[in-house]
Amino acid sequence: VNHLLGIKYLNKKDIQLIFETADHFKEVINRSIKKVPTLRDITIANIFFENSTRTRLSFELAEKRLSADVVNFSAAQSSVKKGETLIDTVNNILSMKVDMVVMRHPNPGAGIFLSKHVKASIVNAGDGAHEHPTQALLDSFSIREKLGEVGGKNIVIVGDILHSRVALSNIFALKLQGANVKVCGPKTLIPKYITSLGVEVETDLRKALEWCDVANMLRVQNERMDISYFPSTREYTQQFGVNKQLLDSLDKQIVIMHPGPINRGVEITSDVADSDQSIILHQVENGVAIRMAVLYLLASKIK
Ligand code: CP
Repeated sequence: VNHLLGIKYLNKKDIQLIFETADHFKEVINRSIKKVPTLRDITIANIFFENSTRTRLSFELAEKRLSADVVNFSAAQSSVKKGETLIDTVNNILSMKVDMVVMRHPNPGAGIFLSKHVKASIVNAGDGAHEHPTQALLDSFSIREKLGEVGGKNIVIVGDILHSRVALSNIFALKLQGANVKVCGPKTLIPKYITSLGVEVETDLRKALEWCDVANMLRVQNERMDISYFPSTREYTQQFGVNKQLLDSLDKQIVIMHPGPINRGVEITSDVADSDQSIILHQVENGVAIRMAVLYLLASKIK
């Protein structure tokens, strides 16, 4: 059985194939073709143990546009609350003849664990602070769309790197494609191992922005940290928040990205998030084509 558990398990060719497939699906969507029969015999369960807006809706739309049968499971309204284990939960879902599981879970490695215990294709929709592979794929796909290619571009990921699955998956994806990557944020929110991934650390936001072609702004993940990591939201915003004045003072127009959800006024001001330099909603749009491509490529190995 094939899975998408993390970018760590992909190579450059895999990413190219996903992008070429997503190009095709994006063209299909843009021609206003709402549905293709590609996954007509496939049943997919979206099981979410953590909140989501973009990932969950975009997987469901991707599945429906490919004509898959879809069931949705939210842990909050399930028998997980009565103590049922992850493996029991998923095996019960699979006994209803489900072929693929798209899972978001708060525990790092939950998808890897599940893939070893159940007979279904697992797609990781975010596992704790570990990986969020489809987010990184749609991010790189959006850079490629905006700048022509990812290779050779200077990308800075700004914010809470320590708790971010988006950062780790992006670093793997960007490095595979030959981009130059820096991370920027408070020292307490940058893990020590990050430089071993071929990434440079810059703690001065202005310098990072002067260097980059693209800044990917991350949210501070308060739900994953205790108070000791950083003093206050106000100080964070002063040092690591991007605003229009700062962007306008640079001698070039950089591309602004954000995986969402945005905390307006904290890591990014509204006039930046909603500006022409921002491709935030294009990222969301591309998420559907990317997820169609991933599901199609995995399902073609199931059939
Ligand atoms: N980017 C992202 O994963 O957003 P959601 O948490 O809303 O799915």
